[in-house]
Amino acid sequence: MRIAVCPGSFDPVTMGHLDVFERASRMSDQVIVAVLINKIKESLFTVEERIEMLTEATAHLPNVTVDSFYGLLVDYCKDHEVNAIVKGLRAVSDFDYELQMAQMNYRLTQVETCFISTNPLYSYLSSSLVKDVATHGGDVGGLVPEAVLKRLQGKLSSTMESNPNN
Ligand code: PNS
Repeated sequence: MRIAVCPGSFDPVTMGHLDVFERASRMSDQVIVAVLINKIKESLFTVEERIEMLTEATAHLPNVTVDSFYGLLVDYCKDHEVNAIVKGLRAVSDFDYELQMAQMNYRLTQVETCFISTNPLYSYLSSSLVKDVATHGGDVGGLVPEAVLKRLQGKLSSTMESNPNN
């Protein structure tokens, strides 16, 4: 059984992420989408909310499950008998950091990292840009799954209500 993990923050999941999950799911027996619990980085959505959105967005992929992890990704890989880390590469700008992480992870436990070239439709897309555009009233329809769009609108309107000067 070949198990792949797609790790990330997914704050929130975008269509670019989903494209990578779908393609990874065709290459592996099982894909685990693993949300990093990051106590330092501020996020718009809680880990639980991100897991819910990811679970909804991947419901059509029977061999994809969603989980969270804290600490080193290589430890998670060992504990879950993961064969490969799968990441999307959007552009050259992603490459340096992704290569560093892949090499460090290999040095730590010899876990392999595979890169999927992002669909050019989504090569400019990131969770940060989605949040920025949505915060300023821009249309992010089609860039995130429908359920995420609704939650994003709900989250941003409740933030505006509690913080009208922001
Ligand atoms: O979506 P992101 O924030 O770009 O994902 C980055 C992530 C979660 C893949 C990376 O930060 C990670 O693997 N963090 C876990 C901690 C770890 O293993 N650090 C050493 C990496 S070589």
